[in-house]
This record gives sequence, C-alpha cells and structure tokens, in this order.
Amino acid sequence: MLAGKRILLIISGGIAAYKCLELIRRLRERGTAVRCILTKAGGQFVTPLAVSALSEDKVYGELFSLTDEAEMGHIQLSRDADLLVVAPATADLLARMATGRADDLASTALLATDKPVLVAPAMNVRMWEHAATKANMALLVERGVMTVGPNEGEMACGEYGLGRMAEAAEILTAIEAYFGTDAPLSGRRALVTSGPTVEAIDPVRYLANRSSGRQGHAIALALARLGAETTLVSGPTRLDDPPGVQVVAVESAEEMLAACQAALPVEVAVCAAAVSDWRVKTQSGQKLKKNGGAPPQIELAVNPDILASLSAAGNKRPRLVVGFAAETEKVVAHAKAKLKSKGCDWILANDVSPGTGIFGGADNLIHLIDGSGVEDWPRMTKQEVAERLARRIAGALDSISGSSGA
Ligand code: C5P
Repeated sequence: MLAGKRILLIISGGIAAYKCLELIRRLRERGTAVRCILTKAGGQFVTPLAVSALSEDKVYGELFSLTDEAEMGHIQLSRDADLLVVAPATADLLARMATGRADDLASTALLATDKPVLVAPAMNVRMWEHAATKANMALLVERGVMTVGPNEGEMACGEYGLGRMAEAAEILTAIEAYFGTDAPLSGRRALVTSGPTVEAIDPVRYLANRSSGRQGHAIALALARLGAETTLVSGPTRLDDPPGVQVVAVESAEEMLAACQAALPVEVAVCAAAVSDWRVKTQSGQKLKKNGGAPPQIELAVNPDILASLSAAGNKRPRLVVGFAAETEKVVAHAKAKLKSKGCDWILANDVSPGTGIFGGADNLIHLIDGSGVEDWPRMTKQEVAERLARRIAGALDSISGSSGA
C-alpha cells in the first residue's frame, strides 16, 4: 500500500537523524519514492552521500541552489509528494513551522506545501517540556500537522525523559496509517457544526458568544482523517480551515441551519457549534442612533435549533446525530434531559463552569451519554476528544450498517 507513494523526507539536525537512514531503507523496500531535504544541521549528523545512496535520488539542501532550482523548484519539491515527513523535527524547526518562517529550504518547503505533514519530534526533555515548544506543537496540531512520538527514555545528552524520536518502525506505521489502511469512515459522509453564531443587530453591531470553535474543528479534522467526506459548517472563528475538510462559512443560526440542510444526506452529524439561542427580531438596515441617550429596545426572537431539526429530519435524518451539552451544574442529569428533548443519539456533556478553563481552552472533560448509559472520559485535549469520538462514530456506524443488513 506504500508502493507508488511519494514522500518528501525532511531531516533536520538531531542525533536521531541516523534513524532516518533505516526509515528510508524500509520505505524504499516497500516501493515508496523518497526524496530528501537535509538541513545544514542535519548534514552534521548524516552525510548527503548516505541519504542519497539509500533514497536513490539526489539530496536537496540549498534554498538558493541554481542547479536545484533548474531541475526542481522548491515549490514543486513540496507539492510533488503525497506526504511530507519531518524526522527528526527539532525544537527549532517546529518553531519555524509554527511561525511560518521560510529561511532555509526545509522551512520554505513546509510553508509552500499543500500536502499533509507528519512530524517526529526529537529533542532534550526540557526543550520538549518548555512552554514555547508546547505552544508551537499545539498550534501545529490545530493546523492539522500529524505527529508520531516522541518517546520516553535515555537521551544522547545523558538526561532521561520524553524527547527521544520515535523509532523508524513507528514512523513507518504512522505513514502506513495515513495512507489508508486506517480509514474506517471512507465512503461515509459527515457534517459538523462549529464556532459561535453571530446575530446582527444593525450593520455594525451583533450578539455572539465566546466559543472558539476548537472542538468542532478538531472533530471535522478527525472524521476526515478516518476517511469521511466531511463538511464543516462554522460561524466566525480565528482557526484555520482543517485540511481535507469542505468548510462552509456562515454567520447566523439561520444561515447555519440552511447550510446544514444543504449538506444532507450524511451518515453522521456532530453539532458542536455554540448556536445563539436568540436573534434580533428585526435587524436595523442602518446603524442605530443614540437618540438623546435612551437605549434602543431590542426585541429578540428564538433561533432554530439545528441539532433538534437534524434529529427530526425524517428520511433525511443522519443515522447518528451527536450533540454537545455545555453545563455548569448537574452536568449528567441535564445532558440526559437534553438527549431526550433534542431527539439525538448521543450527547457529549462537558462541565464548563468558570475555573475549569474548558470553554475556549485546550482541554475537555467529556461524559458521553446515549440511550443505554453514561461513559466518563478522562480529561484530555480537544484533539484527543475528537479522535476518540471519530473512532467511536466509525464503530457505531459499522454496527448500525451490520444490524440493518446494509
Ligand atoms: O440547548 P443547548 O444550546 O444547551 O444545546 C447544545 C447542543 O445543541 C449543541 O450540540 C449545539 O450545537 C446544539 N444547538 C443547535 N442549535 C441551537 C442550539 C443548540 O444545534 N439553536
């Protein structure tokens, strides 16, 4: 399944670079074309000759090489691959990726690419645990960069901890997983709502909420990664569009509902948007004036409930409809009631009381409620919640198809 695939392997400067030679050999054995970029620092650890001999191709290193540019421009280099693998990914290269630098061939290729990227971080444990590296990794993961490792163990510098690069075999498994043995949702269609909705008062003012859209975007990405053809209908957020996902940008709840209906039929819908409960009944076409100090009376109207309408969509109802319940007290009891009132199949309840840092934060604490009971998940990042949910959805859709004889 790796035969015929093309990988651009970026080798940056770390002692773990030697493991790349093994990785190249194993990829070549499987019929994968491997083209390598060796950074200046990477060249201190492995020689261009060894990399070239194993990859059976020339090795790229210079951004402003006349011969390289004539044969294969740096943009082409990064687009000509099916997947970019960065191994080892040093703290420095990860930082340059996160900030969008293009100061050598490796960072330029990573900035210019429109292909998925897998990184295998390798660094000293303190560097890995530094807040700067953590923030860079969180940003890269949010943008859709895939990771393998690092592992815990003895380091070349004599310290012990997390930071050892994953072994060649593990990186190979991650590459194989990406190339489709691991696509249980392939052939399925998914719909996800995310972000806040924004309800106009007049041309310049609006009602909205603090939803970041992180959880919904991560779910859309996780479903797409497992092979689902995924539509993400999102209100305004600061997030990048997840790669491999069809994104429909909306503002109001009414627009969100219309975009969701247009995306049907789907097999699974996950409503993670923080839809505004109300909209302004009559939007003013002109900016409201202060009019001598008396505040305007703004009448509100109830917004459509997107989760409830998808759950009641008759023969267009997705087989599995999943909602969220952000609660500040009696989390499970309220979520159970919501499962009934919305008519959905699962509710993911989370405690968003002030102090948990969950609303707008990076982590989530989930209780999954379905018709048969409650499953408590440990506190994890929103990406981990998304991956776990996507796997569970894949399992559930399989068993639904199985039981209906489809
Ligand atoms: O009723 P409440 O807002 O607590 O319900 C939360 C769940 O319902 C979330 O899944 C949210 O995306 C969905 N919802 C919706 N449309 C609304 C209100 C909530 O889809 N108008």
